[in-house]
Amino acid sequence: MSAKAGRIMSSEGKARVTLHVVSSLDGFIARKDNSVSWLDGYGTVYEAGVSISEEEAAAFVKAIDCYVLGSRTYEHALELGWPYGDTPTVVLTARKLPSTRKSVEFYSGDLETLLVEKLAPRYRNIWLVGGAILSQRFLELGLVDEIRLTIAPILLGDGLRLFGSSLTEQRWVLKNVVAYKNGFVELSYSASTV
Ligand SMILES: NC(=O)c1ccc[n+]([C@@H]2O[C@H](COP(=O)([O-])OP(=O)(O)OC[C@H]3O[C@@H](n4cnc5c(N)ncnc54)[C@H](OP(=O)(O)O)[C@@H]3O)[C@@H](O)[C@H]2O)c1
Repeated sequence: MSAKAGRIMSSEGKARVTLHVVSSLDGFIARKDNSVSWLDGYGTVYEAGVSISEEEAAAFVKAIDCYVLGSRTYEHALELGWPYGDTPTVVLTARKLPSTRKSVEFYSGDLETLLVEKLAPRYRNIWLVGGAILSQRFLELGLVDEIRLTIAPILLGDGLRLFGSSLTEQRWVLKNVVAYKNGFVELSYSASTV
């Protein structure tokens, strides 16, 4: 069975994979030293932008059924403070990493099998949250239904590239744009069917 975007079924309907990542204006997702402190707000205010309340943010996060992340993102998240709460989280690694939380399970191997056999039967709203290596693999395999790319108002000059150079041309369809008061802009795209 091929699990191209939009064709992965869960027991309750269609499972959707959303890739969410925050990039600098020049296309980096982490500084060269791995730091991501530039993700924090800068206090600048874009008057026409929106802001979301804590309640809205909490409701949004509650709707996410499962997170998927690469081992390097996992290790960094443990260092910085776990942002995924008790939501089930699958970490991709071929290493034997220490299990730190009940909600975390590890997986190694074929990503299509992961989605079709392990995730889609259990979850509908699946969020792939990086990093660059894992995101690229999911995109190469056509396993992403939606890209939510948030652009931070900063040039980093150097660092970890959002997407490397191995991707082939793919069209995506713009679905939504949200500009926030803090100057961040979120672009949502769905996979093109043509
Ligand atoms: N700005 C943002 O929104 C954002 C989002 C996420 C992450 N980040 C940053 O990005 C950096 C990490 O990204 P990264 O690209 O270096 O690494 P990554 O994608 O987080 O992790 C890559 C690792 O995932 C594992 N992996 C991938 N596919 C696998 C498979 N099919 N089976 C088993 N293991 C698999 C391998 O782990 P093993 O080597 O353990 O086998 C691989 O080395 C961190 O600095 C993080 O903070 C930024």
